[in-house]
Amino acid sequence: MAESMVKLENITKQFGELHAVDNISLTIKQGEFLTLLGPSGCGKTTTLRMIAGFENPTSGNIWINQALVNEIAPYHREVNTVFQHYSLFPHMTVFNNVAFGLKMKKVKKAEMMERVYNVLDLVQLKEYENRKPNQLSGGQQQRIAIARAIINNPQVLLLDEPLGALDLKLRKQMQLELKHLQQSLGITFIYVTHDQEEALTMSDRIVVMNKGKIEQVDVPRVIYEMPKTLFVSSFIGDTNILKGMVHKKSNDELTLQLGAEMITVKKEPTIEVDDHVLLSIRPENIYFIKETESHDIKIPVKVIECIYTGSSTKVVTQLSDGQKIVIQSTNDAIVTKNTAAFLTWKKELTVVYKANEKEETF
Ligand SMILES: Nc1ncnc2c1ncn2[C@@H]1O[C@H](COP(=O)(O)OP(=O)(O)OP(=O)(O)O)[C@@H](O)[C@H]1O
Ligand SMILES: [Mg+2]
Repeated sequence: MAESMVKLENITKQFGELHAVDNISLTIKQGEFLTLLGPSGCGKTTTLRMIAGFENPTSGNIWINQALVNEIAPYHREVNTVFQHYSLFPHMTVFNNVAFGLKMKKVKKAEMMERVYNVLDLVQLKEYENRKPNQLSGGQQQRIAIARAIINNPQVLLLDEPLGALDLKLRKQMQLELKHLQQSLGITFIYVTHDQEEALTMSDRIVVMNKGKIEQVDVPRVIYEMPKTLFVSSFIGDTNILKGMVHKKSNDELTLQLGAEMITVKKEPTIEVDDHVLLSIRPENIYFIKETESHDIKIPVKVIECIYTGSSTKVVTQLSDGQKIVIQSTNDAIVTKNTAAFLTWKKELTVVYKANEKEETF
């Protein structure tokens, strides 16, 4: 296991009464691409600013590379930050923008030139060295900002929505470029986004935040397939949330009433008989089956709507108790609007939560 590069221990940041960051603990490994993901205002930027040293925690400790940095000024920390707005010097050429940090440190000219050309090569902008920022596209400007941030060989690069200002196509291209850059540099990236697809594409691990707290930390596949809380399941990707009630509990299974049907799912330790539960099932994990087929889960529904979306068809169906289930189907040949149909899904892809009156509905 790689060693810890950044460690947050019981970090809280209050602005007046507001707990912008509320007692979070997290260890980020050397060379890891870790993403802080969550809705606007959940505390992502505040967390990043505390790691950078632009903001002091109200309580808690921060370690970078095994050293306690609570009292260390930003420019003495082994981190660098890339912001959404590139903050390049408009009057300077690309070369001088990138060289700026080295000139401040009075690095010798030959070494400086070599290092600048090296990073310009890495971000594929060597031939643009004499241009000014306003003669570059948004994506090129952002690559210069990244070149400028990595030239001092920081141990950790903090990136706050660095692709937020780019259009979708460029954004997707830059996501892959950044991931490759991070892998070839081998440095730790702490990346902030509120775009779940971006997080799933780029990250080694994702930290899902909500209202200053951490909801789940795990690899993208587990975050997507086994969301620990209802918030995570609704925030990441599309899902169906269905109401049910626990009818029976055995050693490793729960039998639930869903509409007029009974289905069995994996046991959850905290859930008991007669509990009200919420089930989360992804639209792409549900399939239409023929009435004659037999499956563990087999639910009769009425087809309400079929919406063609190109690569698949979104089919809206309804259970006998009125609850709607949306299916993303690539084989919708067997269903038509206003007819009866049967659905199935794998029981291990059903995530069950205890219904909590305090829990928000999405
Ligand atoms: N300097 C400040 N003074 C007072 N409140 C602040 C300050 N900075 C942030 N906040 C508040 O703290 C909370 C968290 O803000 P933060 O900027 O960390 O959110 P975020 O997750 O980065 O959101 P976004 O996705 O919109 O950038 C918000 O409610 C914000 O209004
Ligand atoms: Mg922010």
